[in-house]
Amino acid sequence: MKVWTIANQKGGVGKTTTVATLAGLLNKRQRRVLLIDTDPHASLGYYLGIDPEQVPGSLYDIFMAHKELTHDLVRQYIVPTSVEGLDLLPSTMALATLDRSLGHQEGMGLVLRNVCRLCEADYDYVLIDCSPVLGVLMVNALAASEHIVIPVQTEFLAIKGLERMIKTMEIMGRSKATQYSYTIVATMYDRRTKASPLALQALSEQYPQHLWPDVIPVDTKFRDASLAHLPAPHYAASCRGVKAYERLVEYLFAGNLKHAKVS
Ligand SMILES: Nc1ncnc2c1ncn2[C@@H]1O[C@H](COP(=O)(O)OP(=O)(O)O)[C@@H](O)[C@H]1O
Ligand SMILES: [Mg+2]
Repeated sequence: MKVWTIANQKGGVGKTTTVATLAGLLNKRQRRVLLIDTDPHASLGYYLGIDPEQVPGSLYDIFMAHKELTHDLVRQYIVPTSVEGLDLLPSTMALATLDRSLGHQEGMGLVLRNVCRLCEADYDYVLIDCSPVLGVLMVNALAASEHIVIPVQTEFLAIKGLERMIKTMEIMGRSKATQYSYTIVATMYDRRTKASPLALQALSEQYPQHLWPDVIPVDTKFRDASLAHLPAPHYAASCRGVKAYERLVEYLFAGNLKHAKVS
């Protein structure tokens, strides 16, 4: 089983869209996928048409029971989505209080890692969606993952946020036995604008090792897919946005995983 986290400490850069689209593509390739929504806003759940009020529980319950996690207990909170083979461990607003209530307790950074281990036999991939907040949930996501995908909107302000994100990952990586790798993915690329090519140029100069040498274009089909509560590959399989994510999956499958710097 492989665990990938999709993170960036900036909102609106395409994290949730990337999670849903990669999940859809993996599903179409017959991979069993578990999505873990760590964003208290539950955008991924809403995207997939799952109402947080209508689920048996959430990731919050798992954190509350972190000392006695079992396979059965974790399974109790995983719900199927409308796409067969694609399951979700939902979020809830209460997750926003986690830093205050449990953040300081021993072993709190490894809860998601434990959840993934318990589900090892059930899935081929776990994709973790993050909120922009750097807190106990992001720490958990990074510690559980072997690879991080960082979507970055191709505009200058977004690149500033990226520097912070990468610092965080490097600091986190030091305390881990195995290092994770990361890939920066330029999203919402609009070649008709001045900003997009300039931002891409800056990214390739600053992160030549880690930048995926391609882009996800602006494509309105992503918003339409979210309104239809379907991963874009199940909504508009041949749109150019999905084609671009297909190339990203190929790239990641090919093992183009560059490790974070040890310093
Ligand atoms: N490549 C894209 N082209 C056009 N719109 C996009 C693209 N990626 C994401 N969006 C839209 O941008 C908004 C923010 O994306 P989202 O994935 O929710 O970002 P985040 O999870 O980082 O906050 C959503 O309305 C989404 O549909
Ligand atoms: Mg999101």
